[in-house]
Amino acid sequence: GITRHYTFNIKHHNVTRLCNSRSILTVNGKWPGPRVVAREGDTVLIKVVNHIAANVSIHWHGIRQLRTAWADGPSYITQCPIQTNQSYIYNFTITGQRGTLWYHAHISWLRVSIHGPLIILPAKNASYPFQKPYKEVPIIFAEWFNVDPEAIISQALQTGGGPNISDAYTINSFPGPLYNCSSKDTYKLKVKPGKTYLLRLINAALNDELFFSIANHTLTVVEVDAVYVKPFETDKLVITPGQTTNVLLKTKPYFPSATFLMAARPYFTGQGTFDNTTTAGILEYEHPLGHNSHIKQLPLFKPTLPPINDTNSVTNFTKKLRSLANSKFPANVPQRVDRKFFFTVGLGTRPCPQNTTCQGPNGTMFMASVNNVSFTLPSVAIIQAYFFGQSNGVYTTDFPNNPPVPFNYTGTPPNNTNVSNGTRTVVLPYNTSVELVLQETSILGIESHPLHLHGFNFFVVGQGSGNYDPNKDPANFNLVDPVERNTIGVPSGGWVALRFLADNPGVWFMHCHLEVHTSWGLKMAWIVLDGPQPNQKLLPPPSDLPKC
Ligand code: C2O
Repeated sequence: GITRHYTFNIKHHNVTRLCNSRSILTVNGKWPGPRVVAREGDTVLIKVVNHIAANVSIHWHGIRQLRTAWADGPSYITQCPIQTNQSYIYNFTITGQRGTLWYHAHISWLRVSIHGPLIILPAKNASYPFQKPYKEVPIIFAEWFNVDPEAIISQALQTGGGPNISDAYTINSFPGPLYNCSSKDTYKLKVKPGKTYLLRLINAALNDELFFSIANHTLTVVEVDAVYVKPFETDKLVITPGQTTNVLLKTKPYFPSATFLMAARPYFTGQGTFDNTTTAGILEYEHPLGHNSHIKQLPLFKPTLPPINDTNSVTNFTKKLRSLANSKFPANVPQRVDRKFFFTVGLGTRPCPQNTTCQGPNGTMFMASVNNVSFTLPSVAIIQAYFFGQSNGVYTTDFPNNPPVPFNYTGTPPNNTNVSNGTRTVVLPYNTSVELVLQETSILGIESHPLHLHGFNFFVVGQGSGNYDPNKDPANFNLVDPVERNTIGVPSGGWVALRFLADNPGVWFMHCHLEVHTSWGLKMAWIVLDGPQPNQKLLPPPSDLPKC
């Protein structure tokens, strides 16, 4: 591979959406940020320069970072954040991965507008395992806020209440024609008839799983989270924050100047005070004679998206995702298991501090936890404390393997809300084969939790609703061609079973990719020890690693 150089200037930029102007945080003045493009096997050097008043760090979501955890990016996990007027060069090599990933800020809620596509093309002489597309188009879903999201989350954390929601969902930063004062701010994709387009879908939204569909067109799913899947056709899909999905779009043979809406709107498993609006873009067929149509009305063709609580659509879609699992792209599902973990994930409350009025349920404060531990970020990076043998006062290694109280979800809120705070980690010897069952508790929330693991892909060997049954469910695990990915929606009141091989030494964050749940503590970290061979050890830290 070759070495590719990028510079990211983190700076303010004025943007107007929904007739509201605001200075937002961007990479190089762009939202979404610039495309990072590399081939499998390349080394990427990205110099990030911080020109804003706040601390920042950037995460390369889904990049395995083999032995280079220092370049992973989550603040206080694998680095101290980059301070104002400081810079840091992220240096990593792309090994054994190709497809669509993305990057985003990894501190507080700064990823709301600091994000962009990270595209890994196949190695020089390799090709796609599907028809070569005529064009490749990133489609990024995100959220627009009329006010500063940092103010929203800091106020929510102070009062314990739920944060205010965004004002619009966006497609490539545009809310689209279904919002007020927004028809000019519409993403338009011009296509030629009879061609195949590769759409690289990325859900960069802070807090919402989304359904997506294009009117009158079928999409062929070919890849998720930069892993090829067995292709299948669908007219709608679901994508959680953190996930990426590549689809082929075949345009129709002859449709001069026809326009179709593409649209996305949220999926939640219940009804709440959530935003239920729709972002839309326009797919426009070129006119063969070359005149440009001027669209004055909404396209006639609109997609039907599932209702907000349509769990069946979600299950039907996710059930179809299978690894390609052929000789060229095998699914290396761990067949043996060294360590089994059962983690409950969900929302709860904590008591309101004295002399405070709290806005959480019944005057409490919202919190979120994994195995009843609400994770607190330390004030120095865990990886530095680990590498230099200074864990004292930074983190502990006693993260529970199981919830402290046996868990049983009966459909009514179970009584396991005694939550502790801490920076508790799990230590894994190199090459441990892990089976991890994530059980959603539905104590308060009604949402699925998109759990994201840094540093690894995992195989989703099982999934179900209700309680996980360790005596019955493993018999149905798929150990042949389960989907391999880095972010999985743990269904509300249900479970998923994952397997991964801990072959990447370092410190690896795992958290809910709904940003508000991360803020409330739905996060933890794994420490994977060095192996005996020199090429199984975490590399030493780069000399420009930021200091806290
Ligand atoms: Cu995409 Cu830790 O995040």
